[in-house]
Amino acid sequence: MKKLKVAIMGLGTVGGGTYDVLTRNREVIKSGYGVDVEVVKILDKSPKRLADKGASEKLFAANIDEIVSDPDISVVVETMGGLEPAGSFIIKALESGKSVVTANKELLSKRLDELLSSADKGGSGLYIEASCVGGVPIIRTLTESMQANRVTELTGIINGTTNYILTKMSEEGDDYAYALGEAQKLGYAEFDPTADVEGFDAAYKLSILASLAFHTRIPLDKIYREGISKITSRDIAVGKSMGYELKLLAIGRQNSDGSVQARVHPAFVPASHPLASVRGSFNAVLLKGDFVDEIMLYGRGAGAHPTASAIVSDIVYCAGKDRPQKNDFGSKLANVSDDFPSEYYFSVSVLDRPGMLSVISGVLGSHGISISKMLQENADGHCAEVVILTHMTSERLFRAAVAELRDVDGVLSVGSEIRVIED
Ligand code: HSE
Repeated sequence: MKKLKVAIMGLGTVGGGTYDVLTRNREVIKSGYGVDVEVVKILDKSPKRLADKGASEKLFAANIDEIVSDPDISVVVETMGGLEPAGSFIIKALESGKSVVTANKELLSKRLDELLSSADKGGSGLYIEASCVGGVPIIRTLTESMQANRVTELTGIINGTTNYILTKMSEEGDDYAYALGEAQKLGYAEFDPTADVEGFDAAYKLSILASLAFHTRIPLDKIYREGISKITSRDIAVGKSMGYELKLLAIGRQNSDGSVQARVHPAFVPASHPLASVRGSFNAVLLKGDFVDEIMLYGRGAGAHPTASAIVSDIVYCAGKDRPQKNDFGSKLANVSDDFPSEYYFSVSVLDRPGMLSVISGVLGSHGISISKMLQENADGHCAEVVILTHMTSERLFRAAVAELRDVDGVLSVGSEIRVIED
């Protein structure tokens, strides 16, 4: 039986979950995979934190050197989160030849080159299944199951907090602030929810996933990002009446000219779209490959045990490797396009007087934008709300048309600009 000694850095929610899974399923892993995984050191602030999570205080390590200097430890699990000290600790572990398993999407998306070069220096492997979409095996699917294909598209709901909030708004008519409060009560959203609701967390993951999918590096700062904090329950209800569900999507696409699209933003999808039925805090990723057609992976993208499930799978996976894992993120920087075609939903508040609809459609038409659906609401003789869905148009043309509409006499405001993704 192969024996594997492991250290865990950070015994918070995910680290604690990892310790729990490794302890409770030690026999399952032994009999199923022929490897006996033993946690021999845990780095955290105090021994008491270990006791709180049911781990022996004898495992306590006060600093990283106690871990890297221990020749028996071959795998280091990083579940501290954040950039520092996690980054320096991972680098030390990699450079001392230890395999590192991490769930740290922010660090991977911001300092990937540094981590990869430390892994090269130490001849060690960096294992990242838990960094994206928690318990859903998306990394291994991309790196080990899609070799026959050119992956053309990756579209995902890869943030559970925002999907929970949008589901509450859609199904219960809650407003954004109330749904966010509920997400905070349940522990999905942080006290400062910015990383989730403004799309940063999804952008970290998309940078990793799209780089692996397209074998070309997609840096975080090239990803277009827009969150859900300005979405209203009215937008969601009106979209629903037109046959759409609103989701925060992370989208990576390979264009035929070799450029890529990489973006995170709210989007309406038809109720029949496979991602439309992903509810609550669940995540899903839809992949398109030129030969396999479509694959969809669905599951829990966060939480102690689902994320620990991915971490433990990496530990067992690296135990079976003769050579360190090398993930092909691509070495070349991607040509990321900043204008992507889309259909748009938007609303215009106007004075309720003759000819306004024709003025609006005239402005859109002058920018080459065609209307696919139009809905007028609350026309009371003074004001009216017009909701418009366009056919496919470019971002640039849409922005120019909206700017012009704002200056039209009788137009009070233009808002709720939301993209529509039909397939
Ligand atoms: N906060 C994330 C989510 C999980 O809500 O999906 C960690 O990336």
